[in-house]
Amino acid sequence: MKKIKIAVLCSGGGTNFQAILNAAEAGLLPHGEIVLLLSDHAEAFALERAKRAGIPAAVVDRKQVPDRAEREEKLLRLLKENGAELVVLAGFMTILSPAFIAAYEGRILNIHPALLPSFGGKGFYGLHVHEAVLKAGVKVTGATVHFVTAECDAGPIIAQRAVEVREGDTPEILQKRVMREAEWVIYPEAVENVCKKLTGEIL
Ligand code: GAR
Repeated sequence: MKKIKIAVLCSGGGTNFQAILNAAEAGLLPHGEIVLLLSDHAEAFALERAKRAGIPAAVVDRKQVPDRAEREEKLLRLLKENGAELVVLAGFMTILSPAFIAAYEGRILNIHPALLPSFGGKGFYGLHVHEAVLKAGVKVTGATVHFVTAECDAGPIIAQRAVEVREGDTPEILQKRVMREAEWVIYPEAVENVCKKLTGEIL
């Protein structure tokens, strides 16, 4: 069976990357194959996860290569060299340029820790998102998987799951709940669904 070659891009802990690795291990990613992990932070724990899983990994460090265009050129070269057909952003904290996105049009996914279009766009990343959710006083938040387009966090939505905001939540507590109840569940499923579509099995 044809498998779509997936490259995952991370900047930090990589728990979403781990959820996708676990799904693959459990046979829940039959139409995809993780071929590469790329990080823009040399200390990202995601690199350790790749090592443990035997996935080839490379770093294009933000500190060593501060120019975004130069970093993207290196990233694109690595993606091409490894035959990546789908790019999965999993806690990748750099906004990609329109040129980069055009090179993988319709083939870049992202997970965002809120129910887009709320609490998205520039400046809304990581814990900042959960801080804003708590400040707004909303009672429901969640996570969104979407295609990446030139407009930040505004591409077509693939999957969403709602999560309750509880009395006494801190940004850290809420982040953990959103990850456990939504992100780690919907991201592997969405990756498989997109891979299945890309293999042409669903027309
Ligand atoms: C996740 O909550 C992800 O949704 C978020 O960063 C965290 C990364 O955690 N992404 C964004 O905020 C993107 N704008 P992880 O490295 O453990 O997967």
